[in-house]
Amino acid sequence: MDFFTFAAPFYNTILSAVHKRQGKELLNRLTPLQEKKVLDLGGGTGKLATQMASAGADVWLLDASPQMLKQASRVLPNARLILGDAANLPFPHNSFDIITLVDALHHIRNQKDTLNECYKALLPGGSLYLLEFHPEFLSMRVLAALERLIGEPAQFLSPENLTGLLIKTGFVQIKTKYSLAYEYIIQAKKPLPQFP
Ligand SMILES: C[S@@+](CC[C@H](N)C(=O)[O-])C[C@H]1O[C@@H](n2cnc3c(N)ncnc32)[C@H](O)[C@@H]1O
Repeated sequence: MDFFTFAAPFYNTILSAVHKRQGKELLNRLTPLQEKKVLDLGGGTGKLATQMASAGADVWLLDASPQMLKQASRVLPNARLILGDAANLPFPHNSFDIITLVDALHHIRNQKDTLNECYKALLPGGSLYLLEFHPEFLSMRVLAALERLIGEPAQFLSPENLTGLLIKTGFVQIKTKYSLAYEYIIQAKKPLPQFP
């Protein structure tokens, strides 16, 4: 049994305080969301997606775990919930205004393809928001070791390494903000087309 199959039923209860704080941090940056088409990638049980839907977004959530999606369907009856792989998205190019990857990229085995897929799925001028954890902190190294023990890839990237990957993918206007000493949010934009 994979970790999220096991954890899905009590995931929200255990992380309730963390979700509340992270949701507040992210919503401050994401709003206004009215009429924005948003994809929450690796969106899990839908905690952030619920907050974005309440703020007026047209929310889509894709996750690789059927059990996490089952929990999401309880709180997001009107959102599009899709079982899939972030590294192989089932959407046409230029589909979303915003894509969020919250506490998710380090759980995804193919990070490079995932960022490429985000780039393709975003509209020109659209934004990608990633919330991740800095691997240089002792507490995060312990977390990574524990995640690896339960079979997770635990590929934590520093903001500098993640910024480098985003630049290689084609993203621009990359901004990093620390929400806690070890937790950071990166915003990156897909460039608008350049006309001669
Ligand atoms: C720690 S949870 C975060 C969930 C949610 N974003 C949150 O902040 O509560 C990581 C999620 O990433 C999902 N995930 C892992 N690999 C994935 C992949 N290749 N494609 C899509 N989702 C994936 C897991 O199923 C899990 O729901």
